[in-house]
Amino acid sequence: MLEIQNMTVCYQGQPAVKNFSMRLQAGEIVSLTGESGSGKTTVIRAVLGLLAGGGRVTQGDILLDGKSLLTNTPEEWRRLRGTEISMVFQDSGAMLNPIRRVGDVFTEYIRTHSRMPKAEAWKRGVSMLEQMHLSGGGSIMKSYPFQLSGGMRQRVGIAMAMTFRPRLLLADEPTSALDVTTQAQIVRQMMELRDEYGTSILVVTHNLGMAAYLSDRIIVMKDGQAADSGTREDILGGGRSSCTRELLDAVPSLGGVRDA
Ligand SMILES: Nc1ncnc2c1ncn2[C@@H]1O[C@H](COP(=O)(O)OP(=O)(O)O)[C@@H](O)[C@H]1O
Ligand SMILES: [Mg+2]
Repeated sequence: MLEIQNMTVCYQGQPAVKNFSMRLQAGEIVSLTGESGSGKTTVIRAVLGLLAGGGRVTQGDILLDGKSLLTNTPEEWRRLRGTEISMVFQDSGAMLNPIRRVGDVFTEYIRTHSRMPKAEAWKRGVSMLEQMHLSGGGSIMKSYPFQLSGGMRQRVGIAMAMTFRPRLLLADEPTSALDVTTQAQIVRQMMELRDEYGTSILVVTHNLGMAAYLSDRIIVMKDGQAADSGTREDILGGGRSSCTRELLDAVPSLGGVRDA
């Protein structure tokens, strides 16, 4: 469903991602991993059409169901983002306004993407939270972000992102700010979403253990390029590139996430 073809992305004329290609099939989970600064975030922000710092796709194409996203008008983006394609960030809590109740932000989010009346949007929020196994969705809706743990805030962020059952979920280090147990819960929930809704997921993580647990395929990035890619068995088996082996050496225990 998603295809990136020979994409180069530059910030102020400097290439950050070079000649990068990948495909994501419906219902597939692919991880982008690799050292810090290797271009992972740039790839997924390019897909969402939200490059920071004046970043631009200078070469190649990004196709969703065969249609280029690069030629989207702002109106087309408004229709796609949040509904067909949505994104989860490292700290979704930061997306929630600290001085407003979670439920007010959640209902407003729903209402920017649909014509749902307020009361119905609120109920929809509660049911999405419950689908994320956050019990007492109603009381979470009435809470302020600081009253929730980081893991709960992150699940609120994922619940929001999943409201319209997007076909494509982009997640940038969705568990990096969390403790290992919460990480494992969130990873399992993302896999459940894929199983239930057939959502395709492109997840950025520097945690190779998590990538291995979660994904069907792993792409290892280095200096803005795909240094290696394959099934998790290929990559965990040592991959083809020395940079995959360096990453493997840096992981203390690959069993960590799976056993947690
Ligand atoms: N907003 C920006 N302005 C200028 N350069 C950037 C910006 N964001 C990222 N870069 C550069 O692009 C490269 C890749 O960064 P990034 O995609 O954030 O990597 P990763 O997510 O793998 O850590 C880095 O060299 C970084 O300095
Ligand atoms: Mg990043």
